[in-house]
Amino acid sequence: MSLILGIESSCDETAAALVTSDRQILAHKLAGQEAEHAPFGGVVPEIAARAHAEILTPLIAAALAEADKSLDDVDAVAATAGPGLIGGVMVGLVTGKALAMAANKPLIAVNHLEGHALSPRLSNPDLQFPYLLMLVSGGHCQILRVEGVGQYRRLATTIDDAAGEAFDKTAKILGLGYPGGPRVEAFAKQGDPGAVPLPRPLLRSAEPHFSFAGLKSAVVRAHQSGDHQPEDIAASFQQAVVDCLRDRLVKAIKEQAHCAHLVVAGGVAANGPIRAMLEQVADENGMAFTAPPQWLCTDNAAMIAWAGAERFAAGLTDPLDFVARPRWPLDPTADKARGAGVKA
Ligand code: KG4
Ligand code: ZN
Repeated sequence: MSLILGIESSCDETAAALVTSDRQILAHKLAGQEAEHAPFGGVVPEIAARAHAEILTPLIAAALAEADKSLDDVDAVAATAGPGLIGGVMVGLVTGKALAMAANKPLIAVNHLEGHALSPRLSNPDLQFPYLLMLVSGGHCQILRVEGVGQYRRLATTIDDAAGEAFDKTAKILGLGYPGGPRVEAFAKQGDPGAVPLPRPLLRSAEPHFSFAGLKSAVVRAHQSGDHQPEDIAASFQQAVVDCLRDRLVKAIKEQAHCAHLVVAGGVAANGPIRAMLEQVADENGMAFTAPPQWLCTDNAAMIAWAGAERFAAGLTDPLDFVARPRWPLDPTADKARGAGVKA
């Protein structure tokens, strides 16, 4: 059995965790930065990097104390090395390198997306490769075929905004505040999902990808027109996202993926109607469905430690001069999706 220290700092959560190769989570610590970013209505990269630098070292010490372990007990240090906001990624990776060097332990440079992709195997020991992953977060909207550690086939991605980003922008437009996803969902409960005609970008398109920028623009127009109640706009927006996600997922299942298991990860997995839709699609297609617990779906360090454990077991460690990567696609062979703001 091995013990892995995981470090996460790629967006607005600073996190440290200790996880064993037999799936014991000995400690997981997380410090959000909501208060710092709230006045700006979104994550400010420079503020995020400074906050990570201030909090990360005490957080790692707290995780070790909670697990009653020292650095000497750790078998490897796993740190997110990208993709993400580069200032924050560098804080976490440099800290990981320093600890690895000081304690003479191997470094594992983890792709944040691999953390999300493998996290369901931490919560569900029975989940075998290959499985189909719907990754829906503030930074990513992808469908991946997870074939093994380090082996991913990207079936779809967004050509502009991620699903969570669309929720956050809609919240901003409707004046609901930040973070937007949970607020839009709560507000939508009071509205009529059929009240406002909104587009479903790329619905039934021959290409496999997602697009949410046009939906966001339509939300702006609906709001500015003054013809609609904001709760109806929220409900109609959410329904449009559900419809888009369903359409693209069903296409991927029918045309590309042959997996017995559908898995969801990323912060948007917290959304009730989206989760219900995913369960239904899995059921309709004879697939089992796994959603990790909510805290494991959103950014955290346990998933990074676990990805580290899986890589360590496969003999995959990294040199101390590993360079942080702002973009780092899980599937380097995937075609570039069209669009200017292409996400990794
Ligand atoms: O995975 P995550 O914590 O961070 C990223 O890697 O992006 O996801 C955060 C995203 C945010 O965009 C947030 O608005 C969205 O997940 N989110 C939700 C809900 N809860 C969080 N979106 C829709 N409905 C929710 N209940
Ligand atoms: Zn994430």
